[in-house]
Amino acid sequence: MYILGLETSCDDTAAAVLEVKNNKAKILANVVLPQTDIHAGYGGIVPQIAAKMHSEAITKIIAKALEKAKVSIKEIDLISVTCGPGLIVTLLVGVSAAKTLSFAFKKNIVGVNHLEGHIYAHELSEKKTARIKKIKFPALCLLVSGGHTMLILMENYLKYKILGETRDDAVGEAFDKVARLLNLGYPGGPIIEKMAEGSDCAKFDLPRAMIKTADYDFSLSGLKTAVLRAVNENKKILTDQRLKKDLCASFQAAAFEPLAAKFRRAAQEYGAKTLILGGGVAANQALRRLCQKEIIKNLNKKIIFKVPEISLAADNASMAALAGYYHFKAKDVDKWQTIEAAADLPLESR
Ligand code: KG4
Ligand code: ZN
Repeated sequence: MYILGLETSCDDTAAAVLEVKNNKAKILANVVLPQTDIHAGYGGIVPQIAAKMHSEAITKIIAKALEKAKVSIKEIDLISVTCGPGLIVTLLVGVSAAKTLSFAFKKNIVGVNHLEGHIYAHELSEKKTARIKKIKFPALCLLVSGGHTMLILMENYLKYKILGETRDDAVGEAFDKVARLLNLGYPGGPIIEKMAEGSDCAKFDLPRAMIKTADYDFSLSGLKTAVLRAVNENKKILTDQRLKKDLCASFQAAAFEPLAAKFRRAAQEYGAKTLILGGGVAANQALRRLCQKEIIKNLNKKIIFKVPEISLAADNASMAALAGYYHFKAKDVDKWQTIEAAADLPLESR
């Protein structure tokens, strides 16, 4: 079957066409139009500007995806659209487009949670046809993005239980804020990762917040304040590239260590068979290595560790298409008349 995926939850206008046949998925088109350069000038995302840009782009991006996939809208079997969580003004653009197409061409429609997309993104491949439905349960996902930092336990496809989450900033958000503080630009994640490479992560003594607490929650705002304090105490950091790089490395290590530690502990407690890293921050090689190391060192070697391809870690619509496929298979579909965008759509809601 052919699935048209749409994603406009934040600052990427994305459309994809996914072909799913015999438990294999092939991305026929995965078009993403990022708005990064525009928002970079403001130091973060401006929702109204994002919504306007989505509105101007969405039709063209859908047409481009269909053209690239060589699939006509008539051949599409399912439209899968991100309904939330995200910015309500931007979500509405994708959801309205999906509703219109569903009504006009009498297509099945399903609304998916953005986080589900990130959870399943590792099953896809940009270049190859990928076998899907390979997750062994119980599975545990560490979801790290610009808006979320969560540990999610899964007993099956579509069955989610949030074990813990951040009590303040999301990890991607912390990277973006620290990058702004250090005048590094936006988005901060990839820049800080590059600065941290080969730098001294022990140069600054920064807090590993909540690393020892018995729950599975996280906290990142104190770390951001500690970075600010380090800069205020030594203004040279802003001009001395060596010091700045070491501060980036120290920040990155302090942000990731509690994530990896609780990921491992939860994996042990729940006897996870598959560990999944998902979300935009999952593109970070240091985080991938750290999580993998924690598994190899401390856990059953049979555990499978899954990460998305780098290009599929960030927001895209093929992951929304795949999540929609699982809902469709479970006969959990929507109607164009009732589907709605929700800024705070809970993961466990369906
Ligand atoms: O999942 P995503 O594309 O959008 C949301 O759903 O939020 O994640 C974007 C976030 C941004 O905060 C960005 O700075 C962060 O992911 N990010 C990274 C890296 N690449 C993107 N953080 C750390 N290291 C990276 N390499
Ligand atoms: Zn995302």
